[in-house]
Amino acid sequence: MQVCRNTTAFRDAIAGFRASGDGVGLVTTMGALHAGHLALVAAAKADHARVVATIFVNPTQFGDRTDLDTYPRTEAQDLQMLRAAGVDAVLIPEVAEIYPEGDETIVETTRLAHVLHGQVRPGHFRGVTTVVAKLLNIAQPDAAYFGEKDYQQLQVIRRMVRDLHSPVRIVGVPTVREPDGLAMSSRNTRLTPEDRAAAACLSRALDAAEAEAGWRVPIDRIDQVLRTTINREPRAALRAVDIVDPDSFDPVRGLLTRKVAIMISAEFGGVLLIDQREIGPD
Ligand code: PAF
Repeated sequence: MQVCRNTTAFRDAIAGFRASGDGVGLVTTMGALHAGHLALVAAAKADHARVVATIFVNPTQFGDRTDLDTYPRTEAQDLQMLRAAGVDAVLIPEVAEIYPEGDETIVETTRLAHVLHGQVRPGHFRGVTTVVAKLLNIAQPDAAYFGEKDYQQLQVIRRMVRDLHSPVRIVGVPTVREPDGLAMSSRNTRLTPEDRAAAACLSRALDAAEAEAGWRVPIDRIDQVLRTTINREPRAALRAVDIVDPDSFDPVRGLLTRKVAIMISAEFGGVLLIDQREIGPD
């Protein structure tokens, strides 16, 4: 695996792969890798002869300086994992290269970035789309892979790529879960053992909602099942339950007659966790 500390080296590595006629899949990460990231790599490898990755803790998507400073950084272990997973090249750039002196360009989905989690984390999705646009331009892959767990992020990136006519395919990869159902996330390492056990209530809530989700069931009933299941866990501080149209993110009301996306979030000892599931007929 070629470890590239700057974009020139990374582009050169990719140009070499292209020269041999190989297709290229991209996995962007902020490091602190876990099995969820490896599932993205595996999906990219299934589709492409070459897989490249990036490790970049993107400062513009953090609202809070402390959150950025305390974000786990585990580079040596990340490199081992990417190498073992068969990644061909990885870019680990400096902040100053991605955001050079005088950088003033932002990329933003003007509506999708400001609903749901965008309301709780102002500026977050603008930071994500700006950095992902830069990384896509640097790597120019055939396809880029993102986890379905970060559902709003995935939809925001899809919208950006569509609107900008970017010639890249965006692939959503199903969430990888711990045996008790907790969605894998770099944030899970910040949970105390008690909060870690409690956090499984998120996937239990989604299971309960899915079990309830028959044809023409009132959406309010599904909402109630989600809230009751999470609130039954005393360590969970429920932050949001949203049942929305998967494309527009508009709230869905009335009866369940089509596919909807459930997006939930709760804090456990101050650590905000999210989860999601699509339910209902297509
Ligand atoms: O999902 C992430 O890890 C980040 O938001 C991403 C897509 C790498 C952009 O910094």
